[in-house]
Amino acid sequence: MQRYEWSREFETGIDIIDTQHKRIFDYLIEIDEAIKTTNEDMIKGVVKALIDYSISHNAFEETLMENANYPVLDAHAKVHEAFKARALSYDTRLEKGEDCVKVAKEVRSDIGLWLTNHIQRDDKHYVPYVKKSLEKGFVSRMLGRFFA
Ligand SMILES: [Fe+2]
Repeated sequence: MQRYEWSREFETGIDIIDTQHKRIFDYLIEIDEAIKTTNEDMIKGVVKALIDYSISHNAFEETLMENANYPVLDAHAKVHEAFKARALSYDTRLEKGEDCVKVAKEVRSDIGLWLTNHIQRDDKHYVPYVKKSLEKGFVSRMLGRFFA
């Protein structure tokens, strides 16, 4: 079983995004730990937490991309939408009472792989745009402070 571990190759250089991506890695590790306990409530709780957090994180990313006038936001948002449907399908399976260890194992490999690939490929692409827009915001704030 591949173990998930944060490393520099996942870094975007945008602090708020890196903090959230690291949290996703922590959830994946928490899922592994929960599986070991075989405690149903714990497993369900952490799987749901990862799903909820990832969906919120993607929505947050979209606001940053929108603010940056990211030219391929629509394509990126579609990828997020597909992720949401896939992630929620695991949620539904848990709700229906399917064996939670089985679902959790699929989530940690399928959703885990999806997220780590997405961070390295799709997210890296918006970085220069978002970074530039954040800098611009900073510059205008500073301008407002000194030239108001
Ligand atoms: Fe993304």
